[in-house]
Amino acid sequence: MYLYQKIGFVNTAGLFNKAMKGAYAVPAYNFNNMEQLQAIVLACLETQSPVILQVSRGARDYADKTMLFYMAQGAVMMMKRLAKEKKIKPIPMVLHLDHGDSFELCRDAVNSGFSSVMLDGSSLPYEKNVQLTKKVVEYAHKKGVSVEGELGVLAGVEENIKSDVSRYTDPAQVKDFVKKTGVDSLAISIGTSHGAYKFKAGVIPKIRLDILAKIAKVLPGFPIVLHGASSVPQNYVKEFNSAGGKMGGAIGIDEKQLRAAARSAVCKINVDTDGRLVMTARVRKMLNEDKKMFDPRKYLGPARDALQEMYSRKNKEVFGSNGKV
Ligand code: G3H
Ligand code: 13P
Ligand code: ZN
Repeated sequence: MYLYQKIGFVNTAGLFNKAMKGAYAVPAYNFNNMEQLQAIVLACLETQSPVILQVSRGARDYADKTMLFYMAQGAVMMMKRLAKEKKIKPIPMVLHLDHGDSFELCRDAVNSGFSSVMLDGSSLPYEKNVQLTKKVVEYAHKKGVSVEGELGVLAGVEENIKSDVSRYTDPAQVKDFVKKTGVDSLAISIGTSHGAYKFKAGVIPKIRLDILAKIAKVLPGFPIVLHGASSVPQNYVKEFNSAGGKMGGAIGIDEKQLRAAARSAVCKINVDTDGRLVMTARVRKMLNEDKKMFDPRKYLGPARDALQEMYSRKNKEVFGSNGKV
């Protein structure tokens, strides 16, 4: 059994408390491989931002849960060494299970070094969601692990559950859910969605900040989470398409709206798609430009640099989490 405290992770309590008071959001970046993880840590250390490293069930299947655990532990150790060398502050890091869909998976994460888990019961009937989330909270809290719950359904694919339409979170339900389950944060549905195609052509790409305001009113000071918050940077869609890719009509969330959400009750913003897009666009470009290139370091290195730049910019310009350590 590996408990997060021994590895050097923190849970979300202190981070969300500070984020709420300081009117910013903590970035939650997904990783599946070494280059993504390096870029996240380097960007967050460079911008002196707290960070939530997110691991989905898909990531655990892809990279192997033991491998991922040691990569995350390595990330903490690398961050501490670099902070010392650069004479800057070490940054608080959370290891979070993204979209946990069962008690067993959350229990496994709690006992293998995660400091925060999500139980995503958003596709279940309300009472079942309450019951399962509460069970995870009771188990996780005994070990100081934070729990995120979800109410409302995002369009797109959440792990293996696909929904074509979103069902916005009902502000009338949130207080009861938080009280009955004891969750530490709540993911809500206000028009964000997973993936690279968040809005159909012709639709004004807006999220429902009015619903967020209503939720913040009934849950004053309570940390809210936004999933599906990639902004799908158009310069990278262009780079991807220019190098032979086909991502017509890919569109993400307006960064100004994310900035407004981060200034209010939103304390955690999830980004996965942008990391995938930036990495793949740069790999495509590198391989396209030099047909003889076959050393992975020659194309993964530039992809990692592009990722680091993208994460740093987000911390500074969108989340406002820079300098908050
Ligand atoms: O919310 C979903 C995340 O982007 C994780 O995606 O299940 O393909 O790893 P994944
Ligand atoms: P994106 O697909 O918008 O990056 O959302 C990621 C996410 O919500 C991970 O849980
Ligand atoms: Zn998500």
